[in-house]
Amino acid sequence: MIDVVTGITEQAQGRRTFVVTGGNSGLGFECASVLAQDSSNVVVVACRDVRQGEQAVARMKGVHDNVTVLPLDLADQGSIRRFVDTCRDRHFPPLAGLVCNAGGQNVAVPTKTRDGYETTFAVNHLGHYLLTRLMLPDLAADAQITFTSSGTHDPAQRTGMPEPRYTTAQALAHDFEPGMQAGQRRYTTSKLCNIYTSYEYTRRLAALAEPRLHSLRVNAFDPGLMPATALARTYSAPLRFISRYILPLLALFMKNIHSPATSGRRLALLASGSEGPTTGKYFSNGHETRSSVASYDTRNALDLWETSAEMTGIPSNL
Ligand SMILES: NC(=O)c1ccc[n+]([C@@H]2O[C@H](COP(=O)([O-])OP(=O)(O)OC[C@H]3O[C@@H](n4cnc5c(N)ncnc54)[C@H](OP(=O)(O)O)[C@@H]3O)[C@@H](O)[C@H]2O)c1
Repeated sequence: MIDVVTGITEQAQGRRTFVVTGGNSGLGFECASVLAQDSSNVVVVACRDVRQGEQAVARMKGVHDNVTVLPLDLADQGSIRRFVDTCRDRHFPPLAGLVCNAGGQNVAVPTKTRDGYETTFAVNHLGHYLLTRLMLPDLAADAQITFTSSGTHDPAQRTGMPEPRYTTAQALAHDFEPGMQAGQRRYTTSKLCNIYTSYEYTRRLAALAEPRLHSLRVNAFDPGLMPATALARTYSAPLRFISRYILPLLALFMKNIHSPATSGRRLALLASGSEGPTTGKYFSNGHETRSSVASYDTRNALDLWETSAEMTGIPSNL
């Protein structure tokens, strides 16, 4: 885009755009706030309730006329497509980062999206899969896609959450088993799906000859336990009380427990390329590390990729 006053392109001015899903709350809010501190960044807060998004932006410190709120419901593929169209219509500066952060953990009655898929799988994984696939043509060279995963995907971390169980993507998309344990397992499995998707993207992009696509970077990020966010909203009142007020006291004794502000800053650094030209990596507790043994299973990653392409109606090949 050319600035009509100066005649200088946005790229030459160093302006760039970041999209943060779930930028209205918790980790996403903190990440968007940090990105917005740099006035050369345009930050798109993508959230399902625009009014809540605007109220959140008003709470950001400093000037934030470089922040735009746009509607996005990851449980609705139509909404995701409309979001992408709106971004294109708005002619934002080059897209430098897509932060796939929104997510939910439903331990109440399992629900189905209007597209017919189990909601945790649909929002945490499938919606972001479709969003990133649709936005690939819009990403600038060297842009970053960052998936917010979770240490709970890794049984070796002993987080107290049930071990993920990847069967097939078809089975996950239609798993409506009731109960808290099943709901928690769907969550940890969806966070494993985020890592499969990151690694599968990396393999596929590396095989492409087109320089822009080849240059894209895709990483997964574990923010650690952040008891202060709204993630536990479907838990019972006593469990929400423990999560909000007791768990933070353990911060002194536990190694991967952080405030949303600390993890949001780390996510913003990774998503804006400040960690260097890394791709296909997993970041936890502030540094690059190995993800779970299961997360390197390329057969599951392939099944997830191909089934997700079918479920979203887009070609499997990039
Ligand atoms: N909190 C933790 O301890 C922890 C640990 C590891 C990983 N994580 C991950 O961190 C990410 C952010 O979670 P958080 O802890 O910051 O919780 P949060 O405050 O509840 O934020 C979740 C965000 O996701 C959005 N969201 C949920 N469903 C959506 C949908 N259908 N469409 C669009 N947006 C949707 C929420 O929007 P609404 O406000 O409209 O509901 C909210 O903005 C998640 O991916 C989570 O898995 C959290």
